[in-house]
Amino acid sequence: MTSAAAPEPAMRDRRAAKKLFIKTYGCQMNVYDSARMADVLAPLGYMSVATPDEADMIILNTCHIREKAAEKVFSELGRLRPLKTRKEAAGDRLILAVAGCVAQAEGAEILARAPYVDLVLGPQTYHRLPEMVARAARSAGGVLDTEFPAETKFDFLPESSAPQGVAAFLSIQEGCDKFCTFCVVPYTRGAEFSRPADSVIAEARRLVAQGARDITLLGQNVNAYRGPAPAGGVWGLGRLIEALAGIPGLARLRYTTSHPLDVDDELIAAHRDVPQLMPFLHLPVQSGSDRVLAAMNRRHTADDYRATIDRLRKARADIAFSSDFIVGFPGETEEDFAATLGLAREIGYAQAYSFKYSPRPGTPAAMADGQVPDGVKAERLAILQDLLSEQQRAFNAASLGRVTPVLFEKPGRHRGQLVGRTPHAQAVHAPAPERLLGAVVPVRLVELGAYSLAGEMAAAPEDATA
Ligand code: 5AD
Ligand code: SF4
Repeated sequence: MTSAAAPEPAMRDRRAAKKLFIKTYGCQMNVYDSARMADVLAPLGYMSVATPDEADMIILNTCHIREKAAEKVFSELGRLRPLKTRKEAAGDRLILAVAGCVAQAEGAEILARAPYVDLVLGPQTYHRLPEMVARAARSAGGVLDTEFPAETKFDFLPESSAPQGVAAFLSIQEGCDKFCTFCVVPYTRGAEFSRPADSVIAEARRLVAQGARDITLLGQNVNAYRGPAPAGGVWGLGRLIEALAGIPGLARLRYTTSHPLDVDDELIAAHRDVPQLMPFLHLPVQSGSDRVLAAMNRRHTADDYRATIDRLRKARADIAFSSDFIVGFPGETEEDFAATLGLAREIGYAQAYSFKYSPRPGTPAAMADGQVPDGVKAERLAILQDLLSEQQRAFNAASLGRVTPVLFEKPGRHRGQLVGRTPHAQAVHAPAPERLLGAVVPVRLVELGAYSLAGEMAAAPEDATA
């Protein structure tokens, strides 16, 4: 063996000694980005650890969507500060980094209010992390990188290294050009960008080779995907899904999050023609009132949304829907709210998320007249959430007694049990041998739990379709 192939032992020890702790807030895009940051730091000798106490570098990968997001980050930094002081008193270094959307939005403010932070980096600059770590290690002050660089991080990030397991995420699109008046994403994540289709397909193949059977394609506005096609031209999401479905061993495909305006004919055709594309779609509507939808700059009406849902149902009869709703948007009247309840009743969601409107500094709605008092927002939210929980319960109850294909993803809480998901993304636990991890197995759903369904294998494991 040559010395070039194997690092000499002292060097290997030194490299393995660095420990990385990443705390992830918010959406699946951030979970994905955290994994990529770990990958990009691995060649520098950083190994992921489970607690901040033992780390040499801590990254807070932040989310700006929720209320008081920045304040929560400042409190977390305050809690970590003594750890850094202690380490430095003992002659060690602790690199403290803030990444993600709060970093993008509040970069300079973070370095001013928490000068002990070493690195502040926006979501578009993770590929520069090794260089920034080196700069931070040399410099006394903090390093700030929240640009939107011309080169994209997807061109520079290493091929994903840590296997994600049976259910994997793959980021194909970032950013948003929609500018809904309540939302910070277009400001924090920047303009829409789509990865070239061939690089997405190559990453999907790698994930499958590492054991993935179910891939969720991610993007802030994933169905606005317009990626350079392998042979020139541009592919939309429908065409990309069709190509991904050709990868041997890939049993299931999903995508999130979508905008109703970007559901095009090709995507609807994919729901009709691609059996691997699961019949479950998160399609946020936000409100059922045309007045509020216009004030939100959603660029569609409630009827446009209904028509899109109808077309998807015609293409795939068993498709189920999930949504996001905002109640108490500025100017929302009782009548507007009643329209939201009416729309939710009509569609019948399998699952949904709902939020009280919360002003985000710098967004147009934060400055709008007619802010709704918090008590009214809370009342409306409780009414909507009751309706949506009842719909979810009814959807799950309707599947009891049915046999449905479950993809087993991981061991369950109890011995001899596996946990998986139905095509409609319902979590199911069932007694099953470990060798069925990664297999799609017919399961009869027998009992409704608080967070999952209990099932029994409906056929002998030998009959399981892999
Ligand atoms: N207030 C309340 N909810 C919001 N969301 C985004 N911004 C806000 C805000 N300012 C919700 C939307 C979006 C989801 C990810 O978060 O419903 O679809
Ligand atoms: Fe935000 Fe989604 Fe609207 Fe874009 S489409 S501005 S990400 S809510």
